[in-house]
Amino acid sequence: MIKVLFVCLGNICRSPTACGVFASQVAASELSDRIRVDSAGTSGWHIGASPDHRAMQHAAQYGYDLSFIRSRKINEQDFIEQDLILAMDDENLRSLRQDCPPDYADKLRLFLDFADLPVSEVPDPYYGDDEGFARVLNLVELGGLALLNHLKSNYLQDS
Ligand code: 4NP
Repeated sequence: MIKVLFVCLGNICRSPTACGVFASQVAASELSDRIRVDSAGTSGWHIGASPDHRAMQHAAQYGYDLSFIRSRKINEQDFIEQDLILAMDDENLRSLRQDCPPDYADKLRLFLDFADLPVSEVPDPYYGDDEGFARVLNLVELGGLALLNHLKSNYLQDS
């Protein structure tokens, strides 16, 4: 089982979107028994909250359900248990690097590192308009497919 954790700041916009979209892409590839998906925030500002209604609305438009997700803060156990810890932007990657025990630092990456895109970050949409949320969804779909291809060719070849 490969365990993937998506991480943003509040765990109510970008990382829950990535979690819901990627779980759906994994299911479509019939790999749900090989890849486990979760999300968390580097802040604890929204612990227990559902995803932002704008994130849920945009996701629902494309057929993704985020309603089961509740915000949580990344914890020490995550650094030990997760296989890949994927930050949505540089600031969150920096924050993860500060908190991660050195033995597990190799698990930390930028989510969009796996995609061949002109951008490396999923921009924070929280204080913006609908366009920002549409952009998150678009980047997350592209990034998710690239991540899935990476996992298939690096970890799941014999299946
Ligand atoms: P997220 O977006 O990190 O993609 O979940 C944000 C959510 C909340 C806040 C900032 C970013 N906030 O300042 O409360």
